[in-house]
Formats: sequence, C-alpha cells, structure tokens
Amino acid sequence: MKRRAAITGFPVAHSRSPLIHGHWLAEHGIEGSYEKIAVPPDAAQAFYGDFRESGLVGCNVTVPNKEVAAAACDELDDAARAMGAANTLWLDDAGRLIGANTDGLGFLGNLDQTLPGWDNGLSHAVVLGAGGAARAVIWALLSRGVKTVVIVNRTYQKAADLQVRFGTDSVARHWEDLEELVGKTGMLVNTTSLGMSGQPPLEIDLRNLPESAIVTDLVYVPLETPLLARARARGNPVADGLGMLMHQAVPAFERWFGVRPRVTEELRALVLADLGRAP
Ligand code: ATR
Repeated sequence: MKRRAAITGFPVAHSRSPLIHGHWLAEHGIEGSYEKIAVPPDAAQAFYGDFRESGLVGCNVTVPNKEVAAAACDELDDAARAMGAANTLWLDDAGRLIGANTDGLGFLGNLDQTLPGWDNGLSHAVVLGAGGAARAVIWALLSRGVKTVVIVNRTYQKAADLQVRFGTDSVARHWEDLEELVGKTGMLVNTTSLGMSGQPPLEIDLRNLPESAIVTDLVYVPLETPLLARARARGNPVADGLGMLMHQAVPAFERWFGVRPRVTEELRALVLADLGRAP
C-alpha cells in the first residue's frame, strides 16, 4: 500500500519539505507521497490526538503545532522530551504515536557534512536567540558534549527559562554582553530572525571573535547572511542554514519509508532554485 506522509502545521503553503521528500521518493523509486496538510491551531489537538484516522504513516510538524503534537504522543525520543516539542511523528507497529525532534540532528548533520571534525575540542558556544530553533541547537550542542552553551537573547528572561530547561552546562547572558562573550567562544550560532530578508540586520561586533571560531546562521534567505559574509571575509569557518533544513528531513524519511536518504549537491540545487536563487 502506498505510504503517505505530510508536513502539518499552519501555514504550510511555503514549506520546502514536500520538495525534499518528493526528490528522495523519486530518487529511490518508492511508491509513497508527501503532502501538505494545513492544521490550524484550533484543530491541532484533534488532528494529532486522532492521528490514526489520518491515513498517514507519519508526518512532520511545523509551527505553531510542535508542542501540541508532542503532548499528543504516546512516547517521545530524548530530543523531543528535552525540547518539549516534536517535529516528526510516526505510528509504531502497535499503533502508538511516537514523536521525535530531528531539528537538532539536522543541525549536527549539516555541520558533520560541511565542516567535518567541527566539534573536536569545542568546549564553548554562543547561541543567539531563545525560541524553538534555539532549543534544538542547544540540545544538539549539549548532546555532542560542548561544556558550556551560552544563551543570549533580546528578552533575557526567555534565555533564563531555557537555561533552567537545559541545566548546568548552559548559561544565560544579556545581549549587552555579546561583544565580550564572542571573544572567547569556539562557535557562534544565530537562531534569531535577524538578518533574514525583510527583518532588521544582526548587528554584532566580530572584532574579538577568534579566527578559528565556527559561525553558523539558521537563516537561509538570503543564503549568505551578512553575518556569514563578514565571518567568511575574516577567515572563520562558516555553515549556512539551508543544510539544517535538508538534514532534519533525513531521519524522518528513513523512519517512514525505510531508506536513509543523502543530502546531495543536486538536492541543494533543487531547493535553492525553488527559493528563487541560482545555485
Ligand atoms: P524560532 O522558532 O524560529 O526560534 P521564535 O520562537 O519566534 O522563532 O524565536 C525568535 C527569536 O528571534 C527570539 O529569540 C527573538 O527574541 P525575543 O525572545 O526577545 O523575542 C529573536 N528576535 C526576533 N526579532 C528580534 C530582534 N529584532 N532583535 C533581537 N532578537 C530578535
């Protein structure tokens, strides 16, 4: 029987996930589908609660439903439990709804592929932002054994709340401390929307940043954000945000369709073309 999966959330019209999963389904000759299903917030509890009725083998969950979806699951993986949010669901053989969060794995998978060995000796990272994306990045860095993850956010209280969630290897600091913080870090990650097309720029002084520090931005429109351009120009290793989007889809596809797909230049070019820019 044809296996059906989908992106669910609200809105879903602009999601690139159907393009990514559709590419892999065709590449592997799998008889399956990956659809877009709009699930508005007021319908979310019923949709995930009655997931068996949907006819899907599993789904991705995007904003604003990741928390509601996690709460509807019978079981969560470590990442989803730590983040309190699920982005990948499936029914197990017993018909139980299982939830995972692959956003952090996507962050790691991208770095492993584009900057192999990036985490060797990495002991200190600065994460800008304290929203859903920051949670995934903090979880990912701590899971790789980074000793200190510093969370810096415009609204300090949200950084402090995340610190409580993740515990003693994380630290919350004020935005005003950034200049000092980047002077002793091995990695700088932007998870805020600053620097995205149509949003204000991310103004941050990189003068003190060690040249060996990795700089990565979750924003991928534009692909090379001003932060990445400045970091690259001064010699820092950089990774763009498009890789995380593609890599977070890998474990989900494998779970639903039984094949572990690869993130290739061909796939990257496809997504880039769809974003309206040349590869
Ligand atoms: P996501 O799920 O992508 O992480 P989010 O949960 O809406 O999105 O989080 C957005 C992040 O970008 C937050 O950390 C937000 O800071 P606040 O918690 O202070 O709102 C940050 N952000 C958005 N606009 C910003 C701005 N103009 N200056 C600084 N930070 C900003």
